[in-house]
Amino acid sequence: MKLILVPVDEKTRKCNLRAMRRAITKNTVLLVGSCPSYPHGIIDPIEEIAKLGKKYNIGVHVDCCLGGFLVPFMKDAGFPLAPFDFSVEGVTSISADTHKYGYAPKRSSVILYRSHELRHHQFFVSTDWTGGIYACPTIPGSRSGGIIAGCWTAMMYMGEEGYVDCTRTIIETRQYIEEG
Ligand SMILES: Cc1ncc(COP(=O)(O)O)c(C=O)c1O
Repeated sequence: MKLILVPVDEKTRKCNLRAMRRAITKNTVLLVGSCPSYPHGIIDPIEEIAKLGKKYNIGVHVDCCLGGFLVPFMKDAGFPLAPFDFSVEGVTSISADTHKYGYAPKRSSVILYRSHELRHHQFFVSTDWTGGIYACPTIPGSRSGGIIAGCWTAMMYMGEEGYVDCTRTIIETRQYIEEG
């Protein structure tokens, strides 16, 4: 697959929708938006990107890696956001890193799909391996169950309330720094 990078708006640093629309060709299979991006913490106009995806019948992935355990809790923390998840028609997959603000061990990142059909494409099966059939639910191959157990433990420990509290503290700290 060829990665096409689209410029961001000079001022807002959000995805330039015109540039994204222009970059779409008959070979385009996926549009990607950040929620938020790592360097500037900027949230792309996900609803608008999803509209493009619907219009041209292509997938829309929301990279919630950094924000996967912040943005879903922003509303309850008192900082409502524009919709960015599967409530937005056209969004087909979302990545969320349990191993960032989910406070779980590294390598436990997750990806969510809108449908079982889409998820089906990530399974990897090799039937002509010399050791027999090699089957794995993800491209990276097998991984330790200890990471999954650690992730589950972190999530149970934090609970929804813990994530909301942490989100509130993080955003209030950002505001404090900004004001300073
Ligand atoms: C928005 C975003 N997407 C993806 C990644 C990649 O994450 P990882 O290195 O955990 O695979 C990062 C890393 O910080 C990120 O901030």
